[in-house]
Amino acid sequence: MAIPKNTLVMQSGGNTAVFNRSLFGVVSEALGSEVPGKVYGAVHGLEGLLADELLDLGTYSAARWKAIARTPGAALGSTRRKLESEDVPAVLRVLSSRGIGQVHVIGGNDSAATGHALHKKAVVAGLPLRVVNVPKTIDNDLVGTDHTPGYGSAARFVALATMGAGRDAEAMGSAAPITVLEVMGRDAGWLAASSALARREERDAPHVICVPEVPVDEQRFAGLMEGAYRQHGFAVAVVAENARGIDGPLGPDAVPWYTDEFGHPYYEGAGHHLAALLGRRLNVRVRYEKPGTIQRSMAACVSTADAKEAEMAGRAAVRAALKGETDIMVTLVRSEGDGYGCGTGLAPLAEVADAVREMPPEYLDPDHYGVTESFLDYVRPLLGTPLPRFGRV
Ligand code: F6P
Repeated sequence: MAIPKNTLVMQSGGNTAVFNRSLFGVVSEALGSEVPGKVYGAVHGLEGLLADELLDLGTYSAARWKAIARTPGAALGSTRRKLESEDVPAVLRVLSSRGIGQVHVIGGNDSAATGHALHKKAVVAGLPLRVVNVPKTIDNDLVGTDHTPGYGSAARFVALATMGAGRDAEAMGSAAPITVLEVMGRDAGWLAASSALARREERDAPHVICVPEVPVDEQRFAGLMEGAYRQHGFAVAVVAENARGIDGPLGPDAVPWYTDEFGHPYYEGAGHHLAALLGRRLNVRVRYEKPGTIQRSMAACVSTADAKEAEMAGRAAVRAALKGETDIMVTLVRSEGDGYGCGTGLAPLAEVADAVREMPPEYLDPDHYGVTESFLDYVRPLLGTPLPRFGRV
């Protein structure tokens, strides 16, 4: 059966600073392809698809797209809506009536599950459809890819924020010597770990990094922070939002205060708990900082490498679909050899769906709540241009 020539693109899950660069990649590649059909964008992903709320993305000028490509957030609107079986008839009806043969979901592991389910339902219904997802998440936790678009820019933010927070705590001295910075990363510590790039000298922040892969012994954490404080006069910890204690979630919330449609639990946050612990133990002022959405939307921190690769992944998805690939996600493949280079590959959606790529043991130094040199070598090029060097008197 001939494949309908129109394309649908959706943005899904947590935003990144380069989400729209991938959108731009998909749209410009699809509009410039040899089989140009219409390119539709679903407003708020699955929610817009269900409501047949689709925008014709070919109607915007090149200048408008240039501006969208460098805008944080999701220009189409994102969603955390899960595809339920009762949604399927409406979804297939819209795809068929709009003549859509190619679907690109720009998203993470939940979106891979959505793309995979969509593919299976279309096969059962006899609807010709190619589903090729574009990877995206600041968490860097998708399996099958060296890294994910969105991570490098958020990592750049976290490294710069850690450098700045460290110098601030150092400058304030006894007035406010301790800072706990809590960063995102739902199931894995890649983002918190990237703060280690801030440390060029022993006294530089961060002094402790807490990631979900390494359960936090509160007494040992406090001991390490106290040691850094006594030695340097200040101390900074970077804590992943879901860093865990030895016996489960850190802090007073044994039960999450919210759980989303995908079953992701939301807690108050590990950083707040650890900051209070330090304040009581050291009897000094402890700052608790949580950049929240700022870490994934700071235009000034976009990594040059990340932006380029986000667009490359979007373009690669369109080319793969036009070649007949389906039920697949584009991956980023690091080149072998000296120097940093990156190309694209493909991974089955079934392998990416709902799976989490945690940090491997060789990147972690659990004894010091830190990371290894091999992790620093892995992450450094993803942040793009070199981080600034600060001075001291
Ligand atoms: O999935 C990416 C992410 O930014 C995670 O790091 C974080 O746990 C989650 O999204 C936050 O979700 P929301 O944007 O729904 O608050």
